Amino acid sequence: MTNITRPLALAACLGISTLALAATGPAQQKVLDQYSADAKAGGGAFAGFSAARGKALFLSRSATGKPDTPSCTTCHTEDPRKAGQTRAGKAIEPMALSVSPDRYADLAKTEKWFARNCDSVLGRACTPLEKGDFITFMVSQ
Ligand code: HEC
Repeated sequence: MTNITRPLALAACLGISTLALAATGPAQQKVLDQYSADAKAGGGAFAGFSAARGKALFLSRSATGKPDTPSCTTCHTEDPRKAGQTRAGKAIEPMALSVSPDRYADLAKTEKWFARNCDSVLGRACTPLEKGDFITFMVSQ
């Protein structure tokens, strides 16, 4: 590497890491902190959230919820960066934070929709771990 390319490569690295950090803003971090506190309070071992588990939850099909909403993807599509659609055909903004930067920033709003949608799809409430995993996945998209 020459003396000229080295600073450029360094700048490129810094640029990428700044973008990655910008994904989870303080508001999203606050919501995630609440879910990790809830997960710890629920007992059992809590070893952090997992984007892979969040993705699996998002894509999974359930047989325990309402028959017309077997999956999160029924309304949100399989691509988090794409707009979804309610059963009535109303548009839903994408779930990926990179496309919808205001998401997961308001605990009351996030809780309201987790309650409603987990009940529709799974026939039960999502656990704090599932909620944190889901947001961790969407923040990475
Ligand atoms: C019946 C359609 C439907 C299904 C199925 C569905 N959602 Fe949603 N979801 C919506 C709508 C409508 C909104 C609210 C509109 C908006 O925020 O753009 C929403 C919003 C959300 C939000 C709020 C995000 C924020 O901005 O804070 C979360 C979290 C969420 N959904 C999670 C899920 C999860 C997890 C599943 C699967 C277990 C799921 N959804 C399945 C329709 C659905």
